[in-house]
Parts: sequence; C-alpha cells; structure tokens
Amino acid sequence: MNPVMEVLLSRKSVRAYEDRPIPEEVRAEILHAAMRAPTAGNMMLYSIIDVREQRAKDILARTCDNQPFIATAPLVLLFLADYQRWFDYFLVSGVEQVCERRGEAMRKPEEGDLFLACCDALIAAHSAVIAAESLGLGSCYIGDIMENCEAHRELFDLPAYTFPIALVCFGYPTAQQKRRRLTSRFGSEFIVFENRYRRLGAAELEEMHRPMTERMLRDGVDPETPANLGQSVYSQKFAAGFAKEMNRSVRAMLQAWTPD
Ligand SMILES: Cc1cc2nc3c(=O)[nH]c(=O)nc-3n(C[C@H](O)[C@H](O)[C@H](O)COP(=O)(O)O)c2cc1C
Repeated sequence: MNPVMEVLLSRKSVRAYEDRPIPEEVRAEILHAAMRAPTAGNMMLYSIIDVREQRAKDILARTCDNQPFIATAPLVLLFLADYQRWFDYFLVSGVEQVCERRGEAMRKPEEGDLFLACCDALIAAHSAVIAAESLGLGSCYIGDIMENCEAHRELFDLPAYTFPIALVCFGYPTAQQKRRRLTSRFGSEFIVFENRYRRLGAAELEEMHRPMTERMLRDGVDPETPANLGQSVYSQKFAAGFAKEMNRSVRAMLQAWTPD
C-alpha cells in the first residue's frame, strides 16, 4: 500500500495524548499543509486560530459539551469560515463607491457564501489532520465548537462574518491509543450510489445498521437498552441536549451573518 493510502486508512480519532510538546517546525508543517488545501476561487475563505493559551483550552473543554481532553491537547486549532477578511478588503478597496456609481447596493455575505467558506475551512482542517497523522500525531475533531457561540465569540474576538466550523485537537497518541482498533463503517452499498440518489427502504436500513445494533446490544452501551441503533442515536445524539444547544447557537450565528 502506498504511504498516503496507509495514512488515510489507518487514521483514527485520538483523544488521549502523551505529555509531550509539539515542536514548532511540526506545528508549522501542519499549518502549511492546511493552507495548501484547495480553496474556492483561491480566496482562502477561512482563518485558523492556533489556541495556545491554557486558559482558552480550559474554557473550550467546558463550552464544547464538557470534554476534558481538549484541555490536555498540546495543539488545538480552530478553523473559522471567514468572509470578514474579504468583506473588509472589499470596503477598503472602494467597492462601496463602485456600487454607488453603478446605482446598486453593495452585496453582503449571504448563506451560500457561508457554506462555501465552511467548505474551505473544513477542507483545510482535514489537510491538517492528514498531515499531522503522517507526522505521527493523532487528532480529534470537536463538533461541539458550534455550541455556545456567545462564549466563543468573546473568547476569540470573532466578528459577524466568521463562523467557527471545526475545532481540532492534536497530540502524540498514548500507547493505549495506538493499540486501539479502527472504528467500523457502514457498507459502501449503503453510502455510494451510481448516478442517482437511492432512498433506502426499511429492510435495507435495518440491514445497514444491523452490525452496529448487534454490537451495541452485546456491549450494553446504553443502560436503558434501546431496541436498536436508531432509538439509541436519536436519544443520545440527535435529540440530546448538546444537539439542541448546537442548533440554538448556529441559529444565533446565522442571524449575525444574515441579519436582514
Ligand atoms: C464533524 C465531526 C465532529 C466530531 N466531534 C467530536 C467531538 O465533539 N468529540 C469527540 O470525541 N469526537 C468527535 N468527533 C470524532 C468522531 O466521533 C469520530 O470521527 C467517529 O467516531 C469515527 O471514529 P474514527 O475517527 O476513529 O474513525 C467528530 C468528528 C467529526 C467529523
């Protein structure tokens, strides 16, 4: 197997790190790889905050659904979808005056611009993840960064046209983490379609989720023992408190991005 495939196929999320700092040159390589990621229109519609202050990591460990391992990660990168920088540049470039001369209102960032910027930020984040993996570091995404937007805006001085879309923790994996097995995935027949979307029926959905359901029932993950994975994921993830908070927080950020 070629070394790139090796890295891609052996990556796993790592949530326990050796108490070992990351050399500055390794940090710089990871950031360089992130910035070489493809980017819409070569605009680099993202910013990266290298969270170095322990105080900020401690706060994130709390505001991101109480995940203490965030505070122990030697490298924490926040990826922001960012249209603020371009919008500010439009303003200093005299775009307002150009629009005035044309008799048209200057357009502000809208929903589509936000989605495009999120694509940029996430692609850069994953380049950082893969670069880190190739350099012997483990990583873990923290989706809960979309929660508690008010606290995160204050913590990182975020203006309206920025949107924290991914937080990634990095560090050298502990021996136990290195030994951990890869997580399973659904079969490709349920995920990859030819030419058209294929909506799965009840029997196929059941078949798709059967191995994970069986594992869940065997391991007894949930004390209330739901009948299947669907019931478990619904109550533990989809309808859980953190998901409600994420949706509230994202609505508030969208309101700041598109107030009209
Ligand atoms: C968008 C996104 C958000 C995630 N958020 C969290 C998180 O908040 N906490 C966590 O421990 N893992 C988080 N993860 C890691 C997933 O749980 C992990 O990727 C999944 O269980 C599959 O395991 P693997 O990465 O080891 O293959 C996140 C992953 C992604 C892609």
